Amino acid sequence: MTSLSLAGPDVAGTKTDVLVVGAAKGAKGVTLAAGNAAVDKAFGGRLAKVLADLGFQGNEDECVRIPAPGGLGATSIVVTGLGDAKKVTAETLRRAAGAGVRAAAGSRRAATTLALSGGDDALRAVAEGSLLGAYDFVKFRNASLQGRKEPVQQVTVLTADPKAKDATAAAKRADVVAQAVALARDLVNTPPGDLHPADLADIARTECTKAGCTVEVMDEKALRKGKYGGILGVGQGSANPPRLVRIEYRHPRATRTIALVGKGITFDSGGISIKPAASMEWMKSDMAGAAAVIAALSAIARLGLRVNVTGWVPTAENMPSGSAIRPGDVLTMFGGKRVEILNTDAEGRLILGDAIVRAGQENPDLIVDAATLTGAQIVALGMRTAAVMANDDDLRSRVVDASERAGELMWPMPLPQELRKSIDSDTADITNTGDRYGGMLVAGMFLKEFVADGIPWAHLDVAGPAYNTLDPWGYTPKGGTGVPVRTFVQLAEDEAAR
Ligand code: BES
Ligand code: MN
Ligand code: ZN
Repeated sequence: MTSLSLAGPDVAGTKTDVLVVGAAKGAKGVTLAAGNAAVDKAFGGRLAKVLADLGFQGNEDECVRIPAPGGLGATSIVVTGLGDAKKVTAETLRRAAGAGVRAAAGSRRAATTLALSGGDDALRAVAEGSLLGAYDFVKFRNASLQGRKEPVQQVTVLTADPKAKDATAAAKRADVVAQAVALARDLVNTPPGDLHPADLADIARTECTKAGCTVEVMDEKALRKGKYGGILGVGQGSANPPRLVRIEYRHPRATRTIALVGKGITFDSGGISIKPAASMEWMKSDMAGAAAVIAALSAIARLGLRVNVTGWVPTAENMPSGSAIRPGDVLTMFGGKRVEILNTDAEGRLILGDAIVRAGQENPDLIVDAATLTGAQIVALGMRTAAVMANDDDLRSRVVDASERAGELMWPMPLPQELRKSIDSDTADITNTGDRYGGMLVAGMFLKEFVADGIPWAHLDVAGPAYNTLDPWGYTPKGGTGVPVRTFVQLAEDEAAR
């Protein structure tokens, strides 16, 4: 993991390989961000002209790398675009830092002036974006690493007063959060044959125990004894048995308790309702919700937030076999509700149903689940924006608001009552699939059936945003993105402050 340090605003004197500086699109062309006077001076006051000559426009995700002139402690400069000068936010800086640090790959050390244009929010965003942009996943690469540029190893963020308490706190938070996001990304990127449900449970145990949580793992025997029919049903077609993990973080002075639930399908073949080959390519990522819960719990514990958090990770492998559940089968879920299976590929809601009922038994102040639940989420909102549904408008707003401050794109979605009848069953209490139109909302309506009366609950469908199959952008690499780890941590901070 890339290391982070803070340093004072002596821009010219900063010894580094690459200095990352921001430039926006202003009314009169490219404008250097605040804090870069010394850099411009080293270019004889002509840096904007040099950039214009290179065709650099200052767009987001646009970077150019140029040799540093004499008088600077850096060997080269990466200029990273901030987009419209009038619309620069903390998230703009976070993304620009990530893109800049990615462009600096191949060099060992990078320093950045990006945080000099703002306060501690800017510092936190720049530190986070830099570390997140330096992520890579090489565990399964060897020959293909030949000739590749290694990510930056050391990031230094320049700030007005690096010794100030608020500055060091912002940096520590950024470091803890970035490490948690990297953990979630690693879990998502790990091949499904190397991460069975028992492995995911083991990693939850080690990582979260190390961070200061208490972890309990229910194996298939315990799940049978506890009558977790949803988790067992989904897992019964696989040679790799399911698990339910409970992760507990407690603060002695906490006044609020939140439950986080994450879908942990280590591979989703669809089961007997098998997916077409192309739809299966990325289904190792179907445990991204679980990865986010594990990673968020580790970060929340490390930060010592004044809130109680219980993480629930139901995990199973959805495979077709002679022992798999069939369309037409009826499962008795944890808590007794009977579900008629019409499509074995709607498996996430089955493991989540059990876990949400179990989470509700402890009567938390709120429940938030995260799941790569439906292809319909991607149809509705695309690859980058997650959906937020809820049984409580206030909680839904709070989650969307937290996501905005965390820098994760989320949008509120309804749970229309008229969709409920499409999951009526003639044979059991409810079916696991309904209307195709609004499929994301139907899945949300299904989950809502498992939330105990009176508990505010929100559901995040992160099918698109959790895994990037396209090009890297900002601080988001290809593959696992770590969404929604940062929203979970922000929400826990918000609850701690309530
Ligand atoms: N894991 C998938 C959803 C998914 C699709 C995630 C694409 C990421 C990318 C989920 O288990 C699933 O298969 N959902 C079905 C539900 C349907 C059978 C009602 C879907 O969306 O097609
Ligand atoms: Mn599925
Ligand atoms: Zn799935």
